[in-house]
Amino acid sequence: MIRVEEMSDIDSVKTKPNLEVTIGPLELSNPVIAASGTFGYGLEFSDQVDLCRLGGLVVKGLSLEPRPGNPQPRLAETTAGLLNSIGLQNVGVRAFLEEKLPELADYDCCVLANIFGESPEEYMRVAEMLDGAEGLSGLEVNVSCPNVKEGGAQFGTDPQKTREVVAGVRKATRMPVIVKLSPNVSDIRPIARAAEEAGADALSVSNTFLGMAIDVETRRPRLSTVTGGLSGPAIKPLALRLVWETVNAVNIPVIGVGGIVSAEDALEYIIAGAHAIQIGTANFMDPLACINIVDELETYLLEHGIQDISELRGTLAEK
Ligand SMILES: Cc1cc2nc3c(=O)[nH]c(=O)nc-3n(C[C@H](O)[C@H](O)[C@H](O)COP(=O)(O)O)c2cc1C
Repeated sequence: MIRVEEMSDIDSVKTKPNLEVTIGPLELSNPVIAASGTFGYGLEFSDQVDLCRLGGLVVKGLSLEPRPGNPQPRLAETTAGLLNSIGLQNVGVRAFLEEKLPELADYDCCVLANIFGESPEEYMRVAEMLDGAEGLSGLEVNVSCPNVKEGGAQFGTDPQKTREVVAGVRKATRMPVIVKLSPNVSDIRPIARAAEEAGADALSVSNTFLGMAIDVETRRPRLSTVTGGLSGPAIKPLALRLVWETVNAVNIPVIGVGGIVSAEDALEYIIAGAHAIQIGTANFMDPLACINIVDELETYLLEHGIQDISELRGTLAEK
């Protein structure tokens, strides 16, 4: 196996494959992005991870006011997965702008702010406050948030509610808008199309899958909220199917998210048609997971004589 580091400088200049990708208006040095909620505000990882080597990073979901999140226990390991009910704990958009972003802006890295709200107005307000902030490249809108005023169903489970949230955010900002879809729906395609029609520049697919776990000794749920979101390798085939369906339903770029722990996982998403991928739970297993996957992707391209990662996108062959 030839590794990039083992090649002479001249060879590597000649044959170094191109990992750059474009996601609508965003230009990334490579397709590997750290996923929201699994990489803090980026800064927590900066002494271990060279943030400049990431294609991008998405910060923990931000709301108008700070939120303490749900009571403990709010994490439970499952077979090949992780259940969480963090409850969107975060410092709030003002503290992010004042205390986190100025430091993040020192890194040459595509920083995306993940945002949510309990009403379409709150989504708009958060988007307005972040619009044009120095060091920020775009917004990722998490529509997996309960619509508190209207009975608590998530915005992202209904095409009309998704459209309303995305249209509001679109009006509130000139920045690139990525909409992160919920997998907890019977058909993701009408929701993906609603987000596209309302002005999304790209879609992230997907957030966590609803699940639960029980301690059979105490017969209590393992999470304080009983149910939570499942992530990690357990969900990869499920999220991959959703990405493939979404890619075939819309004309905007799709970012694949769910269970990726290796370059092979990432390549499956790219072959299914994803422009880029996000790494979540794998960051908890190894803080260098993203960087390792960037290196492994480069090695794969070299070994397969592929000059540009985009050549692989959407090349799924028929069975
Ligand atoms: C502890 C934890 C916190 C998360 N917080 C957020 C969040 O604030 N906003 C969001 O859109 N997604 C959040 N997610 C979802 C991840 O960004 C990602 O979509 C999901 O975990 C699937 O990817 P993975 O299997 O690689 O972890 C969170 C996931 C975990 C595990």
